Amino acid sequence: MGALLDRRLIFVTGKGGVGKTTVAAALALAAHRAGRRTLVCEVAAQERLAAAFGMAAEGFREVEVEPGLNAFSVNPEDAIREWLRYQLRSRTLAGLLGGSRIFQYLATAAPGLAEMVTIGKVWELAQLERKTPGSTPYDLVIVDAPATGHGIALLGAPRTFGEIARVGPINRQAEIVDAFVRDPASTAVVAVALAEEMPVTETLELERRVAAELDVRLEHVFANALLANRLSGTEAATLDAALAGGPSDGARAALAASLEAHQTARAQRSQLGRLKRGLGAPVTTLPHLLTHDVGRDGLERLAAKLERDL
Ligand SMILES: Nc1ncnc2c1ncn2[C@@H]1O[C@H](COP(=O)(O)OP(=O)(O)OP(=O)(O)O)[C@@H](O)[C@H]1O
Ligand SMILES: [Mg+2]
Repeated sequence: MGALLDRRLIFVTGKGGVGKTTVAAALALAAHRAGRRTLVCEVAAQERLAAAFGMAAEGFREVEVEPGLNAFSVNPEDAIREWLRYQLRSRTLAGLLGGSRIFQYLATAAPGLAEMVTIGKVWELAQLERKTPGSTPYDLVIVDAPATGHGIALLGAPRTFGEIARVGPINRQAEIVDAFVRDPASTAVVAVALAEEMPVTETLELERRVAAELDVRLEHVFANALLANRLSGTEAATLDAALAGGPSDGARAALAASLEAHQTARAQRSQLGRLKRGLGAPVTTLPHLLTHDVGRDGLERLAAKLERDL
């Protein structure tokens, strides 16, 4: 497992809303603490990552969070423009073709192009020899990827695209990117899950799909937002009896809240067990931070746990 942070690219996916952005940012902090020059990169113009670090997003360029830790937001339109400029070696032509009217046409004419150039940009960011002039290489790029289905489509884009463009430079580039993202020595695909029934089912399904559709092994699963169970069974029974005894309103609320937290934590343990039994990939748990705004402190706490466990 120590090897996870030794890859060049970590692709973080999972069901919507389970904590992909949070875990990608925490992994980036952990890698940075472990001495890796790290870039954490979101796709599809969400611009949530810089905000997670308390910074303003700056579009299609690398933003320094602190020395050795950068964030980047890849949006498909800019990625297509950059790709056209590179392919055509002409700003004017690229500007013309990448103009907003033609962009729509291009995207429709070449399905998968947006995904292909997005993953192509991610690949470029992860290379030791960067094409972008004046850029410094990273030891590790962590991608805050789209949710399950779109995440798989993104990783599969080079293969799909390579099959459409069978010869020529586009085919060659697609093959290079495809080989890189499916080589376990370079790239790890990981998932974030919640210890709840539906997210566990989807994560088990994701592991199967990644293997079947991409021929890639899901490397690791992060079970996020686990509640600590602070009550023993006997203590819970005592609270239960007190609740049944008709306490005052204030006491009732406190007793009910404690019992509910206890029951949620127990249900989570049971779903965590189901997740671990069903998966081939190892599971690392991350605590619930008991706040709605994770913030930089919360990320640091999660990163510290990851540093200990990975
Ligand atoms: N361990 C945690 N403890 C407490 N809150 C958390 C934790 N992890 C994530 N959250 C919160 O849960 C919400 C969803 O997290 P996040 O945005 O990382 O999920 P996501 O999978 O990236 O969502 P989306 O699919 O919308 O991109 C956020 O408000 C985040 O602050
Ligand atoms: Mg997100």
